[in-house]
Amino acid sequence: MDFERSQRLQKLPPYLFAALRQKMAAARERGIKVIRIDIGDPDTATPDLIVQEMQKRIADPGDPDRHRYGCDRPAAEFPEAIKSFYKRRWGVSLKDEQVSITTGSKDAIVQFALGVMNPGDVAIAPVPGYPTYNIGHVFAGGFTHQVPLKPENGFLLDFDAIPAEVARLAKILWISYPNNPTTAIAPMEFFSRAVEFGRKHNVIIAHDAAYSENTYDGYVSPSILQVPGAEDVAVEFFSLSKAFSMTGWRAGSVVGNASAVSALKTVKDNVDNGQLRAIQFCAAAALNNAETLVPPINAIYQRRRDMAVGALNAAGWRLAKPKATIYIWAPVPERYKGDSGAFATDLLETTGVMVTPGRGYGQWGEGFFRISLTYPDAVLKEALDRIVAMT
Ligand code: MLT
Repeated sequence: MDFERSQRLQKLPPYLFAALRQKMAAARERGIKVIRIDIGDPDTATPDLIVQEMQKRIADPGDPDRHRYGCDRPAAEFPEAIKSFYKRRWGVSLKDEQVSITTGSKDAIVQFALGVMNPGDVAIAPVPGYPTYNIGHVFAGGFTHQVPLKPENGFLLDFDAIPAEVARLAKILWISYPNNPTTAIAPMEFFSRAVEFGRKHNVIIAHDAAYSENTYDGYVSPSILQVPGAEDVAVEFFSLSKAFSMTGWRAGSVVGNASAVSALKTVKDNVDNGQLRAIQFCAAAALNNAETLVPPINAIYQRRRDMAVGALNAAGWRLAKPKATIYIWAPVPERYKGDSGAFATDLLETTGVMVTPGRGYGQWGEGFFRISLTYPDAVLKEALDRIVAMT
């Protein structure tokens, strides 16, 4: 029997990377050797210190709860480490009720929408932007009002472009800097402006800071919680995935406004059972050692960034070196203008290289493609050579 899918699933396009995986599988079936530089999934191994912590914790005979529900026996070390990290990194003091651990930001974004939105509600998301914001809204029975991030504004969200009626009705406004996919960074004044908007319109400002630690050339990324009074309206999503090469471990945090954090925790109580205690201890170890663990990871991305920007610019692109994230966001060649999907498909078919088409991040991502720096230097170089040869 074929069962009908829920209306909420019918409202969603295929998940971006699931669709790319299908494309790649079909290409492989036709004998194409695929070279991936699409998803942001670090190739560099999780640092030894974290892996050793896992080896110790997973086999610790002194911890009889190590195999049991993580939510029932949470490791206090993890939220403590989040608080310590925020204090050291941004000078932000967090109270216990302002902190939730998460199983990574992707889950938490959807869970958060379920916790604060009602059917028919509106939330605001930037486009191009991480598709999961909209997915959360749709799962909650709500709608997304899309706001364009324009190259001429440095891909900063223009608060004045949000219609008054949308501002009045909206429950959440998502922002994300350093930005995926555009790689843009935002100054402190931008975050102040966001908090002001949230306060004026009674909207939760949800800052997705998944890339806050992947920064280069001395750039230091702010936290929205550094804005005085931000905790009145803002929450911040942090993930250990990219900072510590821990994508598969699923660990992160949401901190800030206590009522919003509490709504997320209640959703989590209902839909997950927490994560393995060993992972919680490892996340704590990672955060407590961020100052030594993160720079070597970023040194690798910085080298690859320079290589990628150098190769593309030598071929006629005019890209600035991004100061943050693990991506390169570049215009598609002129003949593909208006069809980044066709560019990505032709590239895959003729060279085997899989990039992420900008359209996958929404209508205003059109005209661009994204390269991820999370692939070995030799793979990235080969892929770049092929891109350049094809264009
Ligand atoms: C990406 O490539 O955009 C990310 O790896 C996706 C994610 O964080 O879920």
